Amino acid sequence: MGDPRLRLKAAEVDLFDTPELHALVADLWETMAAESGAGLAAPQVGVPLRVVVFGYQENPRYPDAPPVPETALVNPVIEPLDDVMEEGWEGCLSVPGLRGLVPRYTRIRYSGHDPHGQSIEREVDGFHARVVQHECDHLDGILYPQRMTDLARFGFIEELVASGTLEAPLPCEDPRDP
Ligand code: NI
Repeated sequence: MGDPRLRLKAAEVDLFDTPELHALVADLWETMAAESGAGLAAPQVGVPLRVVVFGYQENPRYPDAPPVPETALVNPVIEPLDDVMEEGWEGCLSVPGLRGLVPRYTRIRYSGHDPHGQSIEREVDGFHARVVQHECDHLDGILYPQRMTDLARFGFIEELVASGTLEAPLPCEDPRDP
């Protein structure tokens, strides 16, 4: 957070199934796995393109979250399915050590393409919908604190855990730098 590259609107990808696009997606998966993230967007690795990856079977950072299919999504578009929003705790690999309570649409439809150019369209809800909204915000230069409505619910993981606001992270998670 504070790096101007995270504030830019990323550009659409014009060509699918190129070695460059596959290399970018591989880098995103590798970086996300190394940090135990739930998702990652290309601007977070310094690439200003509309590419995100997300999903996991089990994630030590989000032990209670249901699995989300592992997906690489290019040029994503999100439509809320209604006006219902819900609040949930979010973290971000670009905002290390902190968590905040963020309102997001509960149910969305998202579409886009996979790196080979095959179209993807899904209707999802809950944590899956939250992760996609969080990652796609990165493509428009938006970090989750900008979506928060109550900064009193923003804090260091260590303090939020100590006060019982957040459940303790698993032992494999370093609370100083999740
Ligand atoms: Ni993020």
